[in-house]
Amino acid sequence: MDLISIQAAYRRYARVYDATFGTVFAAGRKRILRQLNRHGGQRILEVGVGTGISLPGYRRDNTIVGIDISKDMLDIARRRIERRSLTNVESLSEMDAEKLEFPDHSFDTVVAMYVMTVVPHPDRVMSELRRVCKPGGDIYLLNHVMDDDDGLLQATERRLARFSARIGWRPDVTLDSLVEGAGIELVSVDVVPPFRLFRLIRFRNVPAAMPAESYRMAASQIAQQSAVHNRPSLDGAPR
Ligand SMILES: C[S@@+](CC[C@H](N)C(=O)[O-])C[C@H]1O[C@@H](n2cnc3c(N)ncnc32)[C@H](O)[C@@H]1O
Repeated sequence: MDLISIQAAYRRYARVYDATFGTVFAAGRKRILRQLNRHGGQRILEVGVGTGISLPGYRRDNTIVGIDISKDMLDIARRRIERRSLTNVESLSEMDAEKLEFPDHSFDTVVAMYVMTVVPHPDRVMSELRRVCKPGGDIYLLNHVMDDDDGLLQATERRLARFSARIGWRPDVTLDSLVEGAGIELVSVDVVPPFRLFRLIRFRNVPAAMPAESYRMAASQIAQQSAVHNRPSLDGAPR
């Protein structure tokens, strides 16, 4: 999957996006916005903001910066901002999530909803999210991650992965591949509808790295707890 095929895919989806994926993904967005809206006075970066479907859901005393690689999706977002008078949206820019054009530590919170499975290199995006997030800030992902415990689902996901360039979506991204690395602490993983397919993952951007082995143990513990109880764990943060 490359940027050209992603842009082509979202050129096709842009006009029908809100009526289709907008509805399918609504529950997850609502859940993540509830967490983001616990505090005001934040500068928040939304990566892969798309048609801006989440923008009206942010509390107005937070400032939102949005980026996306698709001009067609952003055009719709710009119309939405105007129509809904969303004065707390600071800017929307056409930008590659793998090469963010912001200085280090520019944002209190960074969020990417349904994006990590559509980018060519999720690890590069993760490293950019960490770079632009302030130390101690939160990084939220809302995404499908391949289920390690479900062999049948995994086989289907791998088969679907062969068509990823055409559908603009990679179903075979794992939690480990998204988060492994230095400088980040896994806070919670929640299962969100539809069909238990998606995860709301919260990280804290800590200056000191969590050793890889501790991270793997915490991640697998959290994933198991979320799958069974559907609730967060490490710090008991509310959903
Ligand atoms: C599935 S849509 C999600 C849109 C929105 N976040 C939502 O909740 O509906 C994925 C978005 O990621 C954008 N995207 C894909 N690759 C990107 C990249 N490398 N840089 C920035 N945005 C990207 C797409 O253009 C699309 O708008």
